[in-house]
Formats: sequence, structure tokens, C-alpha cells
Amino acid sequence: MAGPTHVTTEGWSSRWAFILAAIGAAVGLGNVWRFPTLAGENGGGAFVLFYIGCVVLIGLPLILSEIIIGRAGRSDAVGSVRNVAEQSGVSRGWTTFGWMEIISAFLILSFYSVVAGWVIYYAGVMGGDFFGNLFSGAPFAGALQGEEAEAIQGRMTSLFGNIPLLLAMHTVFMGVTYAIVARGVHDGIEKAALYLMPAFFVLLIAITIYGAFVGNFGQAVAFMFTPDFSKLDAPAMNAALGQALFSMSLGSAALITYGAYVSKDTKLPPTAAMIAVADTGVAIIAGLMIFPIVFAVGLDPAAGPTLVFQSLPVAFQQMPGGSLIGFLFFVLIFFAALTSSISLLEGPVSWGINELGWSRFKSATIFSLAIFIVGIACLLSLNVWSDVRLLPFWSIFAESSIFDVIDGFTGKVMLPVAAFLTAIFIGWRADKKLVAAETGLEGGLFALWRFLVAWLAPIGVAVILVFGLFPGLLA
Ligand code: PFF
Repeated sequence: MAGPTHVTTEGWSSRWAFILAAIGAAVGLGNVWRFPTLAGENGGGAFVLFYIGCVVLIGLPLILSEIIIGRAGRSDAVGSVRNVAEQSGVSRGWTTFGWMEIISAFLILSFYSVVAGWVIYYAGVMGGDFFGNLFSGAPFAGALQGEEAEAIQGRMTSLFGNIPLLLAMHTVFMGVTYAIVARGVHDGIEKAALYLMPAFFVLLIAITIYGAFVGNFGQAVAFMFTPDFSKLDAPAMNAALGQALFSMSLGSAALITYGAYVSKDTKLPPTAAMIAVADTGVAIIAGLMIFPIVFAVGLDPAAGPTLVFQSLPVAFQQMPGGSLIGFLFFVLIFFAALTSSISLLEGPVSWGINELGWSRFKSATIFSLAIFIVGIACLLSLNVWSDVRLLPFWSIFAESSIFDVIDGFTGKVMLPVAAFLTAIFIGWRADKKLVAAETGLEGGLFALWRFLVAWLAPIGVAVILVFGLFPGLLA
């Protein structure tokens, strides 16, 4: 049996460094922006319940599977899968899903950085407003005093119309992500998580408590936890599954890559559970942070992707201390986005290092630039390229812009397919002894986990994928 090849020389300095970095990868725009948006659009409670089911039955078993592949293979997403396949005596063809994961990470980061750019813009606007108020002796004023609600909402349209501004923000965000990843696992990725994640959690709790006091908490709870199953159709289920995978950073190289840096004496199942619990907890708390504020001023919870950017600033205008809270809110989203974008970039970068023999500096530079350029296409599709259609022949994407195609295709197709293949690989093809030794699970627990990975996850993912992509089959 061949030993692992192209192995990484880097590693986390402690178990906690890994946990923080992995939670940082998981907690991001997906939790604070996409989850509340989707829950709002898909009727609240039933979506949330189905989402939690996906997390527990599919997401959690797959988190452990991906980390195992990384730690056993000790390389990038492609190299790790190849090493595990070789140690198990099965085809190298399984590296297909490793490739898919790296490509997904690349594509996701291209639009992720654009959205994170909007976050930087709003943090700047709200920050400027807050410091203006502070120096004029009114630190607890509402945000953007004297600006009409329409003008506040119009800021997003103006931002989308302003290519230089969009480009500047996208550049800043990719630049910061690049600077951190280029420093390496120990000095870059892990340090960033060590500072940003605790700051994120403090802000999250503080703003949620604020919202509970000054907002309409009861209505938010009812909205998020009262299930109306009539709203839970096949596309909503597909959205929930895609969101669960995206939110837990599954199917996009991050967890395999981070797993390769984990030491052999770290117990993986509790770590995987912590990632799933933290990620889902943050998504739900983010809903409980945002909806009380949305309801307090009578805004529409189903506003869609503009909810956080267009609706909330209007709410912050009408709330006590809204200027400060608005500023902190966008800083919080920025921190969350940054620890995730780092993990998205690290997938392709580690591939360049391990497979092509590039230095970290070279790999980080090349991939950051390439992703930056694809990001520009996403950015232009908000504007002058809004009519460009990449997949006009595919009904669910026929009307979608470049941005929406990259977002939709990765989330609805590539992540579920990679998740399906991961489950089949670990559940059926990888050497059982190797897998058991990596998990450290025994007896009934191991049997349960294996059942979920080998049966429930692939069947669940496949069914949801097929009906989500071809809703006509149910008609
Ligand atoms: N999990 C991140 C979020 O919820 O925003 C996004 C993400 C990060 C997806 C890393 C995939 C990934 F590999």
C-alpha cells in the first residue's frame, strides 16, 4: 500500500486553533445574510425545521467524512482523496469530487467577495454616520438621520450602478483575504480566526439582546418557529439542503483542506459536532437578531437578498442607538465573511502548493488574482452585463445573471453532487478500518454514523437534488 504523497508540511498549533478556524469557515454570509433571506422567502418555521433535519442527518455526518479525508490524506482536496483512494485500493477516479470541490470554492469566492464588498460599503456608510453623530455629541442617534427611507433603500441601487465603487470594495475584500492566506496556516488563517471569531460572537450576542429589547422579538420567534408545511415544496427543500451544505462549508474543499492540518491525536467526532452546532446556532441567532428589527418597523421579512442591505438600514434609522448598532452589525458581517473567504481561498491555494509545488506566496497570488477577475464578471452582471445569460438553455437558470448562475449552480448542483460522491466514497469505497480508525468511533455510534453516510446522506441528497432541479417531475 502506497503511503500518502504530496503531503502538507503545515499544521494547526492546537485543537482550538482548528476548531475556531473551522467554525470561522462555516459561519459567514451564509448564516447572517442567506439563511434569514431564505427562511423569510420560504415561509419561516417549516423551512427552519427541514433545514435542521438536513444539518443533523446529512450535514453532520458529512463534516466528519470530509475532515477524515483530509486528515487521512494529509493534502489538498484532490491529493487527499487520491491518497485515501490509494490506501483503500480503489480507483483514483474518485478525485473527481476533489476537483469539483476546488472549482466550487473558486467560483463561490468570486461572488462571495462581491457581496462582502457590499458589506464593506455599508459598514463604511454606517461607520461614517456613527462617528459623525459621536463627534456632534449624539452617539445614540438613529442611523442616517434626515435621509428619506426611499433614499436609504436607493443606496443599494446606486451602489449597483457604481462600477468603480463595487470594484474598489471587491478589491479591498480580496486583498485582505489574500494577505491573510499568503501568511500561511499558522501566522495567517489561525491568527485571523483567533481574533475575529470571539469578536464576532460578542457582537452577535450584543445585537441580538438589543433587538430583543427594542424590536419585536415575539413576532420574530413566531415567524421562525411556527411551521407552515404548505410552503415546503421541492424547490424550498432543495434550497434548504443547498443552504445547509453551503453554510457548513461542505463540498467546497474547505473542510478537507483544514482537516489535513489536524494532528492525529485530535478527536474528530466532537469537533465535527461543535462545528455543526455552532454554525446552526449562529444561523438561528442571526434570524433572531434580524427579524425582531425587521418586524419592529413593519418591514417585509420576505424581501429577499436585499433584506439585510436595504431593509435593515431603514430600521436602524428608527431605532434608538441605530447608528451605532447599524455600524456594529455590518462589522459583524464583515468578520464572518472574512473567516469564510479565507477558507474558500485556502482550498485552491493548498492545491497549488501540494500538487504543483508552488510556494504559498505564488499560489495565493495566482488564485487570488484569478478569483478576483471572475468576481469582476459577477460584479458587472449587477450592472452593464445584467442581460448576459450563461445557461439560457436550462430552465431554472434561463433568466439568471452571471452572478445568480454562479451562486445557483454551485449551491444547487455542484455542492450536492460533491456531497453525494463524498458520502458514497466514505460510506462504500474507502477502507473501512482506515475510516473507523480516523473517526475513533466504536460500536453502535460508528454503525449509526456509517448508516447515515452510506445510506441516508446519499439517498437524501439525490432525491432532493433531482426533485429540486426538475420540479416538473412532481407535477
Ligand atoms: N460557510 C460559509 C458561509 O456560510 O458563509 C461559506 C463557505 C465557506 C462555503 C467555505 C464553502 C466553503 F468552503
